[in-house]
This record gives sequence, C-alpha cells and structure tokens, in this order.
Amino acid sequence: MKKLKYLFLIAQAIFAGTVSAQLYKPSPGIETKVNALLAKMTLDEKIGQLTLYTTDWGSTGPTIREGYKNDIRSGACGNLFNSHTVGFVRDLQKVAVEETRLKIPLLFGYDVIHGYKTIFPIPLGEAASWDLEAIELSARVAALEASAAGLNWTFAPMVDIGRDPRWGRVMEGAGEDTWLGCRIAEARVRGIQGKKIGSTDAMLACVKHYAAYGAATAGRDYNTVDMSERFFREYYLPPYKAAIEAGAATVMTSFNDYDGVPVSGNKYLLTNILRNEWGFKGFVVTDYTTINEMVLHGVVANEKEAGELALNAGVDMDMQGAVFQRFTKQSVKEGKVMRQQIDEAVRRILRLKFELGLFDDPYKFCDENREKATLLSPANRQAAREVSRKSIVLLKNDKNVLPLQRNQRIALIGPLVDNQSELIGNWNGAGNANDCVSLAAGLKGLNIIQAKGCEFEGSDKSGFEAAIAAARSADVVVVAVGEKAMMSGEAASRTDITLPGVQEELILELCKTGKPVVVVLMNGRPLAIPNIAANATAILETWWLGTEAGNAIADVLLGDYNPAGKLPMTFPRSVGQVPIYYNEKSTGRPFDPNSKWTSKYIDEANAPLYPFGFGLSYTTFSYGTPVAKPSYLPGDEKSGTLANPKYPVKVSVDVTNTGKVAGEEVVQLYVRDLVGSVTRPVKELKGFQKVMLQPGETKNLTFTLNEEAFRFYRRNMTFGTEPGEYDIMIGGNSQDVKTVRVRLEK
Ligand code: NOJ
Repeated sequence: MKKLKYLFLIAQAIFAGTVSAQLYKPSPGIETKVNALLAKMTLDEKIGQLTLYTTDWGSTGPTIREGYKNDIRSGACGNLFNSHTVGFVRDLQKVAVEETRLKIPLLFGYDVIHGYKTIFPIPLGEAASWDLEAIELSARVAALEASAAGLNWTFAPMVDIGRDPRWGRVMEGAGEDTWLGCRIAEARVRGIQGKKIGSTDAMLACVKHYAAYGAATAGRDYNTVDMSERFFREYYLPPYKAAIEAGAATVMTSFNDYDGVPVSGNKYLLTNILRNEWGFKGFVVTDYTTINEMVLHGVVANEKEAGELALNAGVDMDMQGAVFQRFTKQSVKEGKVMRQQIDEAVRRILRLKFELGLFDDPYKFCDENREKATLLSPANRQAAREVSRKSIVLLKNDKNVLPLQRNQRIALIGPLVDNQSELIGNWNGAGNANDCVSLAAGLKGLNIIQAKGCEFEGSDKSGFEAAIAAARSADVVVVAVGEKAMMSGEAASRTDITLPGVQEELILELCKTGKPVVVVLMNGRPLAIPNIAANATAILETWWLGTEAGNAIADVLLGDYNPAGKLPMTFPRSVGQVPIYYNEKSTGRPFDPNSKWTSKYIDEANAPLYPFGFGLSYTTFSYGTPVAKPSYLPGDEKSGTLANPKYPVKVSVDVTNTGKVAGEEVVQLYVRDLVGSVTRPVKELKGFQKVMLQPGETKNLTFTLNEEAFRFYRRNMTFGTEPGEYDIMIGGNSQDVKTVRVRLEK
C-alpha cells in the first residue's frame, strides 16, 4: 500500500504539467516577431536556419568540428543535434547568441527515444504494456531529463508500423497495429511536449519517419517501399496523423521512396497530405543526409538538384547533408527555388524557436542545478521500474512454475544474467549501462547458483557442462538469453530471427535435466522460438527494459507484480511466415486443413507462435458473451439495428478473474466488416480496456463504438462507413475472442 501511494505521488508530480494536446498552431503574436526578424536576414542567414548539423559526440565524448563552430558563428548553421549536457550546450548557444549578427538561438536535438539518462523499456516493450498512461509517463520523464540537460527537441516518437520482425527498427515503434499505434503516438507526444511548448520541461516532438519507413521491402533497412495507396492510407499513415493531431511540432522524413519518389523529395507526402490535408503547421526536417541520397536513389543528377527537389516538395530543414548550405543560394539565383519558399521554411523554424522561449532566454534549458537534481532521480528510477514491469509479457507458464518461491534454489544461467551493457537497448540516449540493475542484482539475496553457459554469439559450448550441473543442483532454472542490443535498431535487419549463437541449444540441454526451466528473453524484435516454446516450462518476454531491468524482472519472477503485458507484434513460428500480422485479409481461399487448394504453406502452419495481443497472467480470466446495444438478431433485417451510424453502439462484456490472485487483463475489442465494397481485414483492433480484478471478481465493461470505428477507405477512396453487418469481437488476445454482430444502416 505504501509503495502504491509513493508511486501515485510520483505520477502526480510528473504529470502535473500535461494537458490534453491538439494540433500545433502558432501562438498569437508570434508572426509579428518572426516577420520582423525575417526582414533583417540575409539569404545566407536564412539558409543557415534551414541547416542542422551533428556534433561529433563519439566514443571519446562531445566535440564539435571547428568548421561547424565557425558555421554557427557566421550564421550558416542554425541548429545542432547530438549535443547535450548543460555545459556543452551552453557553450555552443553562447556562440549563437553572442557572436552572430542576429543572435538567433540554436535548436538542440537528440534521439531521446526511451529515456535520456534513466532508460525506460524500448518503445516496442512499452507498447506491450497497453498502458497509455505508463507510456506517457515514460515520455514525460524522458522530456524532464533531456530538457534539464540542455535539449529542446527530441527525434521521437517513432510511429512506423512494423509488420516485419526482420526489420531491426521494429524495436523503436509500437508494433504492428495501426489503432494501437495511433493511441501510443498520441501518448508519447503528450509526454514529450508536456503542458505546452515553451514550458521549461517540455521539448519539441518530432514524429518520424514519415512515411511508411516500416514497410521496407523484405525487412531490409532503407529498402524501397511500394504499396497501394489504399494500404498506405489505411495502415501506415494514421499514426503520423495521430501524432500531429496530438500536437507534434516537427516531422522527420524517412529514408525510403514511396511510389517511386524518395520521401525527402515527395511533394505529395510533404505538401499535399501533410500540410494541405492535415493542416500541419510545424516544420519538416529530413533524416540524416536523405537529400543527398536522392542522387543514389536515381531521381536527380546531383546534390544541387536534390536540394531543389526537397525544398520544392516541402522540406524545411536539411539534416547533416549540407546540401542547402552549399547549393541553395545558387538555386535561388537561378529561380529553381523561390525566395518565398525559403522564407516560409525559415518562418516555420523561427516560430518554434519563439514558441520555445529561446529568444527570451536562450539558456532556459541550461540550469546545472536542475540537471543534477533531475537526471536519474529516485522518482525517475521508480517510474522506470513501474513502466518496465508493465512491459513484460508472460508467454508460457506451465504448472504455474512462476512466480518463484523465495526459498527455492535457483540456477541463474545465460549470457544476460550478469549483464548490464545490453539492458539499455539501442537508442539509449545518455544512458549509462553501469546504472542498470542486472538480473542477478535484482534477484540478490535469494538462494542462487550462477553459470553463464554461453555467449550470445558463436558456437562455443564449453560452458554448457557447468550450466547443466548448476541446473541439476537447483529447484528451478532461470535462463536469461536474447539478442545483443545492437542486433535491433537502425541498420540492424536480420534474416534469421531465432536466438543467436548456441543459446537455444543451451536451453534445450537445460530442459533435458527435467528441472523446470524459465526462459527470460531480452530482445528488440519478435523472435522465432518454436522449440523453446515447446520445451521450456515458462517464458517471459522482457524486451530491453533499461535502467531498472533487473528489479522489474525480479518483481515479476517473484510475484511481487503480476504480469499483464500483451504482445504488440505477432511472434512467428519461422521467418518464412514473415510478414505476418493479425489483421490480414481473408483471401478467396482461406486456410482449410482439408483442402490443398487454400492459402497455406506446405511446410509450416499459418498460425503464428504467439498472436498479436497475447500474454498470460498469474491468474486466469473468463469472458462472457458480448452484448451490443442497440441489439441485433442476425438474419433479422429489422430488429434493433443501428438506424444511424452516427449514434454509438455500446458493447458490454463480463470479464471474470477465475484464478487465485488479483490480476490485470487487457480486454481487447476487434471489428470485422463482413461485406464491404473492398476486401476488409478479418479483424481490426478498435478499443481496449485494462482492468484490475480481484480473485473471483467479475466486472462488466462497456465499450462505446462511434461511427469512426467502422470507417475505412471505400472503393472510391472516400473515407467513411458502409451499411451492413459487422462482427464485434472481444477477448484477451487477437485469436481467442467472443463475437456479437451489429448492423449499420444508411
Ligand atoms: C537516423 C535515424 O533514422 C533517425 O531516426 C535519427 O533520428 C537520426 N539518424 C538522427 O540521429
């Protein structure tokens, strides 16, 4: 109880600053200031504002190439990234506001993806919490810390839909589902931007990577994206829009092409959709050198043309490519880029510098005392532990081997048992592995015998013998295995998504001892682990949980926290099933085990190993039959139909905790359109509720579905509903559901 109260106080303190977010609109009065400044600027200075350079924050620490410092001084570089910590930022900001002609402050951007110093679970892990408040809290803490360390802009949230676990960057997103992805995108933007842009503890969010980067062909990073516009608008586009409607002030273009045009030169995406359809008023930054890369894409002959294509398409800021700096003046002279175009881009950037309050106080994010008090504070660590345990998914628990008993002798085995360096995962901000709680540290004080068994990679099995001996001497085996953190993330695609090295073999050997084997997985993508699923006694998916990993995993292993996470991405049986996702279409020949001529493999099942939305608990839940109001009797055209889709349909269901301990369940609601003017998925997530139930307790949950839940891109590409029958399915994962039918009328 005491602990709960403490947590409540933390959340209250951290959330004290958030409000419900909405599309970013420039504040009144900003325009006059922006125009007054713009009127004083030379073309060179304007181009400088459109330029973003990295410092060389490398292995030896922060440095800045002298050339860039001169660029700041001359006004040729208006923004920096990879520059953080108060001392470092202040020095550079000082150059901008004391040594330049117009004293325009710099923006300082950084990839604060799942924490700045206190590292939270990787975003895919957080998505598994299905807990929007927890996800918002994580983003809030990240912003609190990063803004205390000199930063005012983060390159997050990453909202790319990921349906292909070969693609290493699935770790940075919210998984495969569009609806869940939208809700998570909104939560992250709220957390990052806090109460309002301009608060000292808020940063500019940057939704990325616009657009469809997650659909790289064959899961190979940076690869081509090609899909129908219907598919694009239906599944890949909505999370970017959701983030923008939640107020994200900036957008980052992606590396890929879309429909034959690289995104950084794609006017349809950057102007027609983003600005004209959605009304986006912030600025667009490219990803790292994507303007230059348009030459290699083969759509322009040289970098000068690439710059022209980008500016005319709607790019405002060039990340690291120096294309604008080198060529745009000439392009303007030649009339290839209009001055108004440049002015508009500069305005968009200056507006946000004004909104942030940098002209009033360029050092507002540079307070050493605040930096010291905020980073890695006990409250932040506690929040990380809380979010981390919520992100854990229990995939298997035979004979209720979990939770462990404190008096059991535990053999703690595997390359991740004592490890700290991998726990912070990829994109770990300013996180320090030494601050991480290892699994062994989390389980300290218990009766433990430890053995590494093997490394992550390689074929060395010399440690097996000691590991097996340790297992034999114990009551239960806990084996911590996984990928290395850098095996997922950018430029980390894999064709083999099994556990690397001899880790699987080690597990299978340990299983042969007859002792119960609990596998603790740490990884950045869904893994294909059918043998482990068949042989291990229990499996916990823990992703990369960050600074508090060991404590959070121990909380779950020991039953101090009852796991409630659910998979945000399907786990395939083998890489050959990829891409695999729950909201597939039926096809004209849906799988039928009795017919050869249906959609299937001859060497593998269609069904995944673990479906989207799946996750167990230390208790069990049962579901009643859902009831819809107005109600509908299938086959009866007239009875209780929804006369007008504008009126919501309410669907309620009883959920009961049928086990012996209290637990939380993520109750998921899916919709299927039975007959549409175009083929529709077999189910689509449209809502969920996370509910805590005491043993034996039943709660009746009601979901309200507005017309929106039934909308899609119709045959003529208008977005709306069609009359007809819809199945509403409710359950604890995407496969085990109970159904009620409703009918929409014209
Ligand atoms: C490239 C990555 O694709 C992007 O996500 C990141 O924000 C930038 N580099 C800056 O580090």
